[in-house]
Amino acid sequence: MKNRNFVAGKVEKLAPSGIRAFFDLVLGMKDVISLGVGEPDFITPWNIRETGIFAIEQGYTSYTSNKGLYKLRLLIQRFLKQRFELKYCPDEEMLITVGVSEGLDLAVRAIINPGEQVIVPLPSYVSYGPIVELAAGVPVYLATSEKNNFKITAHDLDAACNRKTKAIILNYPSNPTGSTYSLKELEDINKICKKHNIIVISDEVYGELSYEQEHISFPSLREAKKNTIYLNGFSKAYAMTGWRMGYVCGPKPIIAAMTKIHQYTILCAPIISQMAACEALQNGKRSVEEMKREYKRRCDFMFESLNAIGLACAKPQGAFYIFPSIKKYGLKSLEFAKLLLKEHKVAVVPGVAFGKGYDDYVRMSYATNYTQLKEAIKRMTVFMGKYVKK
Ligand SMILES: Cc1ncc(COP(=O)(O)O)c(C=O)c1O
Repeated sequence: MKNRNFVAGKVEKLAPSGIRAFFDLVLGMKDVISLGVGEPDFITPWNIRETGIFAIEQGYTSYTSNKGLYKLRLLIQRFLKQRFELKYCPDEEMLITVGVSEGLDLAVRAIINPGEQVIVPLPSYVSYGPIVELAAGVPVYLATSEKNNFKITAHDLDAACNRKTKAIILNYPSNPTGSTYSLKELEDINKICKKHNIIVISDEVYGELSYEQEHISFPSLREAKKNTIYLNGFSKAYAMTGWRMGYVCGPKPIIAAMTKIHQYTILCAPIISQMAACEALQNGKRSVEEMKREYKRRCDFMFESLNAIGLACAKPQGAFYIFPSIKKYGLKSLEFAKLLLKEHKVAVVPGVAFGKGYDDYVRMSYATNYTQLKEAIKRMTVFMGKYVKK
């Protein structure tokens, strides 16, 4: 019998994640300081873990409503109202998802017809492009540069829009650069989105980790709500990556469409995680503030230290990433990362993983404890001395 290729064309066509092979190398090595991971080094605060344990003990092991526990949706409603003056109806404008990841996938699948375009600013979180491609949409990459702190401008966005543009995926504070937008910048972007009548899929998973300014939620801008799909979750701020908890808020018809896909593919998010998320929203604020303070301390340290050893970078304004330039080394980002790993056992993510034009950068995560960050800087100082182009 002839060997048949059972893999669907659109999946086969997807480029594998540029960093997987690199992190396979890391797994095989001892004594590596990893600045590569995109998740908090903290474990979930105890009161949240305990709530999860107690939920199991009490026998909460069933499905929930497709939309998620009503209590959790009410708590999210309260949080968004208090935090951003945002009003969402927990019945019709909200859906509990399996992480922001599921929310992103549902948002794109719910609105994109084959061939429609989604603008993805670069450098970007690695999933955006593939999610659009899997939904038979076309990602249109919009490059940004260090000059503008890796942010899109209203002018560039205007130029990138055409009749086929359906949406833009915004993410701020940003993975991988840590940059965020001011009110004026967001308002200008909003104007262009309105001009072209496109949807903003706003990934604000790092919204609670904003250091330099109060985070401004996109749907809270004037007249933005009806064109925005707002995504948030518990992974980053509450150190709950493994619980897989997220939520999405948006216009009623879009949430209804997303819920349709969700009910056939996922049914509901895990009840135990939903109960833990309720505890996070009720009694987690102090823990978030403590973790944020520590990230900020590390951010200041990394910013000062990297610039001092010649790895020039802008000050991150949020999230837990820093994106220094490696131009001076004269090496491609993957070569740089491999060499740094081999010679000094420090793992960083090559910039090229976040977009083709970012081979002169690497992403470092400071969701790593302070002592290890200090040791990483020590090792990089030696490395820098050896390889910098004279
Ligand atoms: C920008 C961004 N969006 C979404 C996610 C996924 O988050 P979740 O764990 O909620 O699925 C990540 C994880 O790294 C991220 O960096």
